Amino acid sequence: MIAFLMQSCYNDSEEKINGITDPNACDTLAAVTYSGQMKTLFDNKCNSCHISQFPNFNTYDNSFNYVKDPVNSENLYFTVAEMSHQGASLTVCEKAQLKKWLKNPAP
Ligand code: HEC
Repeated sequence: MIAFLMQSCYNDSEEKINGITDPNACDTLAAVTYSGQMKTLFDNKCNSCHISQFPNFNTYDNSFNYVKDPVNSENLYFTVAEMSHQGASLTVCEKAQLKKWLKNPAP
């Protein structure tokens, strides 16, 4: 019986490997920080324009200076997550992380 269970676990894990290597896989339970997730998101999806275009997200301080104002914070989420903004499109996962980070914009 134990051998049978182990066998079936082994077969299951082969399927899960595909899930884990999925590039869209996302741990929304993890703490979201600027250095952990947001910098990559801003670099990949925003900073091509927002280096020269205010607001600027290329460092934690610049990002925080903008999002510490709740009006800006809400406006940012609305702009990029609920409207289509300048061709920037966020995955479901990135939206979840962004929302979490804006509530608590940790470095
Ligand atoms: C293709 C260029 C481009 C990309 C990519 C881009 N933006 Fe923008 N963004 C702009 C321009 C141009 C403006 C000013 C005009 C406007 O509001 O649309 C702007 C304005 C904004 C504003 C201010 C809106 C306001 O109320 O004035 C925010 C916040 C913002 N962008 C956030 C982001 C975030 C976050 C990303 C990445 C997810 C991003 N943008 C990606 C070009 C871009």
